[in-house]
Amino acid sequence: MSAWIFGYGSLVWRPDFPYLECRTAAIDGWSRRFWQGSTDHRGVPGDPGRVVTLVREPGARCWGRAYRIEGRDGEAILEGLAFREKGGYDRIVLDLHFAGAPEAPAPGFVYFANPDNPNWLGPAPLADIARQVRRSRGPSGANVEYVMELAGALRAMEVEDAHVFALADLVKGQGAP
Ligand code: SIN
Repeated sequence: MSAWIFGYGSLVWRPDFPYLECRTAAIDGWSRRFWQGSTDHRGVPGDPGRVVTLVREPGARCWGRAYRIEGRDGEAILEGLAFREKGGYDRIVLDLHFAGAPEAPAPGFVYFANPDNPNWLGPAPLADIARQVRRSRGPSGANVEYVMELAGALRAMEVEDAHVFALADLVKGQGAP
């Protein structure tokens, strides 16, 4: 028995659990947005950083990485992820569509921060988000690192994400103000 975990944020570039297989995959009807506050990884209470969550958007497709985990290890891995994602994320199950694969989608666990969680920040002008990212830092490191690592990983996977790439350009000081 095995199960899939889908990562679209830090889990794209920093999975910290053993897995059997990693595949590029997408979820349909969702967009990735830097709308979740982070007070335990990339910011601190009272001065949150910004990390990604998913927002429902008909017709959208969000690319990320799917990890197949061994059933025997599953419970320990999910416990570790429940701790890592405790800053407002719930675990849900969504259909994963694998890149270049005609097979039927497979269900996978996804960590999703609902707007009713206490760390939710919501939309803001991208320049404001970039300013917040540039000044934020938390126990896991600089918020800038999170944005740049995610953008770099998505580029390496040759997938598109206009929101992430525009934010990364602004953070680097290369986008329009
Ligand atoms: C994820 O990576 O899938 C969840 C959000 C995060 O930890 O950045």
